[in-house]
Amino acid sequence: MKERAATTGTADRAATARPTIAILDYGSQYTQLIARRVRESRVYCEIFPHDVTPDELRERNVVGVILSGGPSSVYEPNAPSVDRRVVDGRLPVLGICYGMHLMAQVLGGEVAPEGTREYGPAMVEIGDHGGLFEGLAPSERAWMSHGDTVRRLPAGFHGIARTERVPVAAMTDGRARFGVQFHPEVMHTPRGAEVLRNFLYRVCGATGDWTPAAFVEEAIAELRREIGERHAICALSGGVDSAVAAALVARAIGDRLTCVFIDTGLLRENEAEQVVATFGPRLRLVAVDAADRFLVRLAGVNDPEQKRSVIGEEFVRCFEEEAAARLPAATIAGQKPVLVQGTIYPDVIESRSRESKTSARIKTHHNVGGLPEVMALDVVEPLRRLFKDEVRRVGAELGIPEDILWRHPSPGPGLAVRVVGEIDREKLDILRRADAIYLEELRAADWYRKVAQAFAVLTSVRSVGVQGDFRTYGYLVALRAVTTEDFMTADWARLPYDLLERISSRIVNEVPSVNRVVYDVSSKPPATIEWE
Ligand code: XMP
Repeated sequence: MKERAATTGTADRAATARPTIAILDYGSQYTQLIARRVRESRVYCEIFPHDVTPDELRERNVVGVILSGGPSSVYEPNAPSVDRRVVDGRLPVLGICYGMHLMAQVLGGEVAPEGTREYGPAMVEIGDHGGLFEGLAPSERAWMSHGDTVRRLPAGFHGIARTERVPVAAMTDGRARFGVQFHPEVMHTPRGAEVLRNFLYRVCGATGDWTPAAFVEEAIAELRREIGERHAICALSGGVDSAVAAALVARAIGDRLTCVFIDTGLLRENEAEQVVATFGPRLRLVAVDAADRFLVRLAGVNDPEQKRSVIGEEFVRCFEEEAAARLPAATIAGQKPVLVQGTIYPDVIESRSRESKTSARIKTHHNVGGLPEVMALDVVEPLRRLFKDEVRRVGAELGIPEDILWRHPSPGPGLAVRVVGEIDREKLDILRRADAIYLEELRAADWYRKVAQAFAVLTSVRSVGVQGDFRTYGYLVALRAVTTEDFMTADWARLPYDLLERISSRIVNEVPSVNRVVYDVSSKPPATIEWE
């Protein structure tokens, strides 16, 4: 098998040996969902651009192909297509919606707009229960979302399901090629996961061996090969991704990995202590108290984007100093040391699609992505092919405690973007206390795991109140909790009134200088999740 470029990550190369399902992306909003469903079936898959060549698929040990749905119509000029050799029968293929239309068209069939468009739920009458539909009832509910259908089947294909309006709701060549008009990957197709599993197991011969334990074993072997005798350094943020990446690399190379945890002074209550207590005993951990430097540089800074840039810059500087202090003695002549990063698959997919689209810059996200350019380090990203839920399962496999694994994501600039306007130590302390009470009550009421992200914001509003017999002029704390799958859109969480009441009452009673609490009921968009 051909070796891939030296810049590719660990899991990337591990995947070359592993039987892989290729998902060709035609721009469907559900493409990532297909990948997650396949992985949930314990089968390894990757998303490829739709113009991938058969040679590339062969190099990646692809054993089956799924063509995703997409918003285009196959008969439009410039509609995204597929290399005919990918669908000519050498490999098992499942075309979903647009993917089905495309396969039909490329193989000589005909696709046309449907007279009466079928969107949303439909009943699919199954005519053939072999292969793809094994185990399903004669009639199943399924989700439709395209206005085109296969009007004429390609030679050698026959229909295996229909709906009231669509005569060819599924097709096959009777061997290993299938097309479905509906979306098996969405929840609204209740038995869709079985359809996908039938394709993976019965048609492609997958064995379901993609497990956290298997990933750990392969990743460790790969990391050892890639890092060799070199030393590595990793910025531990306290979040899930960097924690799992570090734990994995530590398994592979032991204390040749140095983890640097920078306490920016912008962390939540007890966060620094918890990171040190959790990772101190299992990793070579350097904890740096840099709160003073960050606060000095942030003094007088009001603008959120400027806060982000100051913090980003200071973070790089701090990290560089630590790396310079820890690595040189250990560096092998002529070989670059390694920088471990916790990049995960959605980051990779998102940055790939960001490259291909021009989108307005809404808010810059600070992470340590800028580091390798200023430092002579080789980047290793052992999680770059994993989804978040897989990262958590791998973390559990590595023995990382649950409360770290299930932690809500938090912004790189930390509480700096949750104190509105200028920051100082006093405001940070007030926010930390209010935020800690909020999270404590959410956990006690079993709501922490039900929301995707929850936090308090110290607003710059001060208002009049009465506490005891005194008139007060205190801070306004806002609480935010959101539900979201992808953090691109989000809805405010419907927390129970009595829970909100308890939180509010504790905050105004226990946090001096706060006399009013409000709950943020805006969704994203038009708001963002963070206030700054
Ligand atoms: P927004 O506020 O943009 O947040 O709706 C979406 C997700 O991104 C996180 N976020 C950040 N993460 N650096 C980060 O690393 C940042 O500057 C930043 N700003 C927002 C936010 O917490 C949410 O999860």
